[in-house]
Amino acid sequence: MSVNHQCSYDSGRRGNARRVLGSLGIVLGVAALVLSFTAVAEVPGAIPPQGTHDGKDVAQPIEFPHNIHADVNKINCMYCHTYARRSKVAGIPPTSKCMGCHSVIATDKPRIKKLTEYWENREPPPWNKVHDVPDYVHFTHEKHLKRFVFDNDALPTENVSEVCAFCHGEVKTMTVAHKTKPLNMGFCKRCHEANHGPFDCWQCHK
Ligand code: HEC
Ligand code: HEC
Ligand code: HEC
Ligand code: HEC
Ligand code: HEC
Repeated sequence: MSVNHQCSYDSGRRGNARRVLGSLGIVLGVAALVLSFTAVAEVPGAIPPQGTHDGKDVAQPIEFPHNIHADVNKINCMYCHTYARRSKVAGIPPTSKCMGCHSVIATDKPRIKKLTEYWENREPPPWNKVHDVPDYVHFTHEKHLKRFVFDNDALPTENVSEVCAFCHGEVKTMTVAHKTKPLNMGFCKRCHEANHGPFDCWQCHK
């Protein structure tokens, strides 16, 4: 109160103080802005799971650069992995989806020539699995995406990759997909504990 009152008519020393306070305000404002930008990279209303895994790059028939598609060209994960929102599996896109772009984009590149060859031979590239939980584990993408994306008004759908990253790491920066999260029982259970997921044995082992 008294500071405001004096500042309103005093110049000189208090003016300096005001300038200092003013620039402090700017610094704090910038800091808040920076914080709010980093906050965009988080998922509101969720406690991220703990644990990492040092998986190697998995050899693929065509090295598929997630970075070029998801980061540089900002293609949404769910544009290609269309089933994630409504089924157990996320799905690998059919070659027809690739050709929607690659019948005209980068057609002279060796990897795209190989892709076109698969397409013309009506043969899907034999993609190798990167993530694979044992058959006795029940997992479904749908419920997790519903909880963290579609029922989560605070998360814009274009940030869905942050939810995928809970269990798959920063796929959008990968030049070749590899496993970076353990996806073992402890990993799943700790996240269920933190975010009120189910932890009866039968839920994950039906
Ligand atoms: C242009 C299509 C496209 C986009 C966009 C895309 N992906 Fe993929 N994704 C693929 C293809 C093709 C594969 C199979 C090749 C591979 O595993 O490297 C794949 C594989 C994966 C795998 C490994 C699957 C396995 O075998 O376990 C994960 C996880 C994945 N994508 C997550 C993501 C996430 C997260 C995003 C968004 C940041 C994303 N993808 C965006 C096409 C795409
Ligand atoms: C929405 C458009 C789009 C779709 C769909 C798409 N891509 Fe691409 N892709 C691009 C663009 C843009 C580039 C960068 C081209 C460049 O650098 O000239 C690219 C680059 C690539 C490259 C790197 C080429 C090189 O050697 O530089 C590969 C490999 C590739 N895509 C494979 C695929 C596969 C496989 C699919 C299907 C799963 C797919 N793309 C789907 C737009 C797309
Ligand atoms: C809560 C953890 C979790 C989240 C969140 C998650 N995944 Fe998965 N994902 C898994 C697990 C576990 C597997 C292995 C499933 C199996 O082996 O049956 C998997 C497998 C996959 C696969 C390969 C097999 C398949 O299902 O087609 C792709 C592709 C994939 N995820 C993409 C995504 C994308 C894209 C997102 C975000 C839209 C995402 N995942 C979000 C845990 C998750
Ligand atoms: C990011 C935290 C997180 C991770 C990691 C996670 N879950 Fe979940 N899971 C949840 C939450 C929260 C729910 C409850 C969703 C709801 O309210 O519908 C859930 C629900 C489930 C369900 C219940 C589905 C149904 O039919 O109702 C199963 C099964 C499940 N998770 C299995 C797994 C398995 C297996 C893993 C590890 C591979 C895993 N989850 C990893 C948070 C997580
Ligand atoms: C949130 C999901 C989840 C819940 C709840 C859960 N499990 Fe598991 N469980 C898993 C996953 C994922 C694996 C696979 C581990 C791996 O691949 O290393 C697993 C593996 C196992 C295995 C195989 C051996 C091992 O330890 O790797 C046994 C046995 C098992 N669980 C028993 C149980 C029992 C008993 C309960 C209840 C007390 C339970 N699980 C609850 C997810 C779960």
